[in-house]
Amino acid sequence: MTKKITFLGIETSCDETAAAIIRENNRGTADILSNIVSSQISEHKKFGGVVPELAARAHLENIEYIINSALKDSKINLDEIDGIAATAGPGLVVCLSIGLNIGKSIATFSNKHFIAVNHLEGHALSPGLETNVKFPYLLLLISGGHTQFLIVKDVNEYEQLGTTIDDALGEAFDKTAKMLDLGYPGGPSVEKFAKLGDKKFFKLPEPIINKAGCNLSFAGLKTAVLRESLKINENKKMKYNLAASFQNTINNILRKKTKIAIEMFKEKTQSEEVRLIVAGGVAANQTIRENLSNLSDEMKIETIYPNIKFCSDNAAMIAWAGIKRFKKKLLDKIDVTAKSRWPLDKKAPYMKGPGLKL
Ligand SMILES: Nc1ncnc2c1ncn2[C@@H]1O[C@H](COP(=O)(O)OP(=O)(O)OP(=O)(O)O)[C@@H](O)[C@H]1O
Ligand SMILES: [Mg+2]
Repeated sequence: MTKKITFLGIETSCDETAAAIIRENNRGTADILSNIVSSQISEHKKFGGVVPELAARAHLENIEYIINSALKDSKINLDEIDGIAATAGPGLVVCLSIGLNIGKSIATFSNKHFIAVNHLEGHALSPGLETNVKFPYLLLLISGGHTQFLIVKDVNEYEQLGTTIDDALGEAFDKTAKMLDLGYPGGPSVEKFAKLGDKKFFKLPEPIINKAGCNLSFAGLKTAVLRESLKINENKKMKYNLAASFQNTINNILRKKTKIAIEMFKEKTQSEEVRLIVAGGVAANQTIRENLSNLSDEMKIETIYPNIKFCSDNAAMIAWAGIKRFKKKLLDKIDVTAKSRWPLDKKAPYMKGPGLKL
């Protein structure tokens, strides 16, 4: 029997300090030996968003305890671990450096392999923790900092089909929650209060809906929410109507753009067989799951959602990406540094700011 690879994963790219120990199993998926996530929600709540210096300080205070807890929970020793995988980007460099440096130190002193993981590859491969998904698949990555359609051809092989040209979807949820004073973190609170509102009450814009392929835009929608929120003057029912209408508009946009991305995927892969994976923090939203599942039923394709605990930031997906890269011999040297920007598809055009042509 071949040896099953075991990795320690470390994640500190934003406001979650996380460590996990993962072992590959005979089913082609992962045994989660431990998975510890410490969220900093209480630290950032009063500011309505992540404050980088506070986040970095909290990572520093917690990281040793989190890694020790992951080791203890896993009931294995460090010498049974084959390698260390730590997130090296994209994200806040002050935060990334903490997990990355501690990962490099553990790897050096214990003489283990080291892998610097792209956080987005962690999200992209996260369904593989529990489901043996065949490549290629279509990925809709919807998170706090990214919104992209990608063809995942293999580990380390990505082709971007479309992306947001302004805000990320998670950011749009967070800003909507802030404008409506619905609480922090924004995404889950918008989803919760939207249930109490009339989703057809406000007619909101669907930017670039009929152009630019499967590229997306949310800035105009956000401005429209701001404009309406200033008129409703703390009226609770109207706030819930606006949250519901915002979420409904997002679902209309995602439906239309996903349909285009599915067609593009079929054309590029020359195959009618499509597996759609929806990953990242926003993939926890139940209305988005139902909406995209309805679309995939109509289009007769398969849709897979990672378990909710693997949608938002976690180190299990980082350890898993580490194992997958290790098996492809994609090892990193110890002098690797943190990167704030790190696209999965290096050839994809940068779609934000000046020079943007749709
Ligand atoms: N139920 C939900 N509905 C909508 N959005 C949600 C929900 N749950 C979480 N989110 C959003 O998901 C985002 C966090 O996701 P994630 O942790 O993957 O992002 P991130 O790591 O900050 O960004 P990135 O992965 O792009 O670097 C937040 O914007 C949050 O509001
Ligand atoms: Mg993330």
